Amino acid sequence: MRSSPPSSSQPLDGDDASNERVTTAGTATKDARTSRSRRKLRRRASATAFLLFGLVASGLLAGLLTPEPQVATAEPTSAELVAAGKQLYDNSCVTCHGVNLEGVPDRGPTLLGVGDASVYFQVSTGRMPAARGEAQVKRKTVKFTQSQIDQLGAYIQAMGGGPRTMYATTENGDVKRDENGMPVLAMGELRGNDLGRGSELFRLNCASCHNFTGRGGALSSGKFAPSLSGVNEQQLYTAILTGPQNMPKFSNRQLSVEEKKDIIGFIRYADTSNPIGGFGLGGFGPASEGVVMWVVGISAVVAGAMWIGSRN
Ligand code: HEC
Ligand code: HEC
Repeated sequence: MRSSPPSSSQPLDGDDASNERVTTAGTATKDARTSRSRRKLRRRASATAFLLFGLVASGLLAGLLTPEPQVATAEPTSAELVAAGKQLYDNSCVTCHGVNLEGVPDRGPTLLGVGDASVYFQVSTGRMPAARGEAQVKRKTVKFTQSQIDQLGAYIQAMGGGPRTMYATTENGDVKRDENGMPVLAMGELRGNDLGRGSELFRLNCASCHNFTGRGGALSSGKFAPSLSGVNEQQLYTAILTGPQNMPKFSNRQLSVEEKKDIIGFIRYADTSNPIGGFGLGGFGPASEGVVMWVVGISAVVAGAMWIGSRN
């Protein structure tokens, strides 16, 4: 089963401190009632009135100063985004995934509950829209712009829910927005700093398929785990969260967001730092290295022989 969206990764809700005000006003009124002296009473009454006035005024002021809740135009599940996403879906995806996202036998699985995380991963890596009859859907040239991916994600999220992409946040915890008011996806923010823990978790959870250097490897039945080189942070995050094709899913309960970030930090570090000891040769081990040595060596010998021959 798909897990429900992790609330920790969605810092969109504001908090509400209005309960406190109600109780303060209640005690103040009770105090005024128990008082004996009329002067005291009047003073208390005016104090209460003053207090109530202050509370109402500060309530109004707070109401004016608090920004509108961010459900407005730019929120990723807003009606326009969803409508635009439905349009794109009906043009490019419906033949394989069905009118109500229920899937089409022998063409494509249901998309109910896959979440905008899976949509981001599949579409931003060019895997979707898939071509007919592919054994393993591979990374391809991306067909959609980032805002179209947001729209497709919003539509599929609105229809069935599921794991969410992660957005960048400002210092005070709000979702960061670009100049068009669209939420900005987290990238560098998803890199954890604990490379030691990241490398350990990678070895335990990923290396069996992706190889110790993250350069990928063959699996049974002609499938393969691709290289992790050049995969951006958000794609790494959503791949781990949604488990495409033969890859297992790691929900935020199995690997916390912090653990995922450390794995991502490690993969990006290993990818961008130079491999030790020359070229990586695809990380396939001694066989590929042997082939390269053979080809390079024989070519050198043949070239040498031809050079000697040409001197006579
Ligand atoms: C030619 C058929 C085809 C088309 C067109 C297509 N898909 Fe798919 N899609 C598939 C198949 C097949 C899979 C399953 C891949 C697998 O797991 O091996 C899939 C998987 C997916 C998944 C992953 C589901 C999961 O369980 O996490 C998403 C998300 C998705 N498609 C989105 C889209 C979107 C969005 C479009 C349109 C832009 C689209 N697809 C177009 C065939 C298609
Ligand atoms: C059981 C084998 C297996 C394990 C374990 C596994 N993966 Fe994968 N992974 C795959 C396969 C197969 C694919 C290809 C899926 C596809 O093409 O849709 C893949 C794809 C990916 C991709 C997409 C790369 C691209 O080209 O866009 C990323 C990123 C990824 N895996 C990261 C990880 C990480 C990080 C872990 C550990 C937390 C992990 N995987 C564990 C098998 C595995």
